[in-house]
Amino acid sequence: MAQSRSTAGQGLHVAIIMDGNGRWAQARGLPRVFGHVAGARAVRRCVRTAGALGLRTLTLFAFSSANWMRPAPEVDALCALMTRHLREEQARLRAAGVRLEVIGRRDRLPGELLEAIEEAERQTSTGTQLCLRLAIDYSSRESILGAARRFHVETARGGAPAGFGRLLATGAEDVDLLIRTGGEQRLSDFLLWECAWAELHFTRVAWPDFGARELRRALRSFAARERRFGALPEKGSAA
Ligand code: FPP
Repeated sequence: MAQSRSTAGQGLHVAIIMDGNGRWAQARGLPRVFGHVAGARAVRRCVRTAGALGLRTLTLFAFSSANWMRPAPEVDALCALMTRHLREEQARLRAAGVRLEVIGRRDRLPGELLEAIEEAERQTSTGTQLCLRLAIDYSSRESILGAARRFHVETARGGAPAGFGRLLATGAEDVDLLIRTGGEQRLSDFLLWECAWAELHFTRVAWPDFGARELRRALRSFAARERRFGALPEKGSAA
């Protein structure tokens, strides 16, 4: 059904590919990991703004399954940073009514990170204001393949799967707006199924510089678009 939005943010699922941390640091003559540290601060700001704007769900791409190919010191620093962030933020998230969920594989994560994830998920499980999903060791193709396997098993057992999407480990919640920072314009194996009808917003702003102003700008751009989902324009709008 054709649809346009007037209330920026309210009830939306926004997903963000947080890119540009390394270049942000290198442009300042700093090691790449400083960009990730600044990126973690941007995560905090963005979550606060998302809650204030009434988003339903915010999904952030924190660590892709392809990121294991980075040098070990950078991978270790990212895992340590995510662990610290989860430990430090969980009380704040809980107080703000944010429910944290982590999507992606868990079997390859360091024990400390896994514990921090499980604890933060437990502590925030009753949140109803905003669902914050962090994608960690996440690959959309792997998620879709997993769903295909489950679909096959259910069918072989004689079950009648009610829909392929529900078999995705991520819950298959459709993304309304996908934002990518850092200037690249690709999806990088992120929420491919869920972004089937997403509006796309690419910005050159590096993730550490992404703040409330940029999020509001992206939402304004989203609100100005007509979402037709393949249908014809609504009556009264230009043909
Ligand atoms: C991409 O930038 C970013 C990442 C691979 C990691 C994202 C991580 C954070 C924002 C911080 C930690 C996360 C949380 C949830 C606390 P890049 O390194 O590819 O940048 P580049 O393209 O400039 O090299």
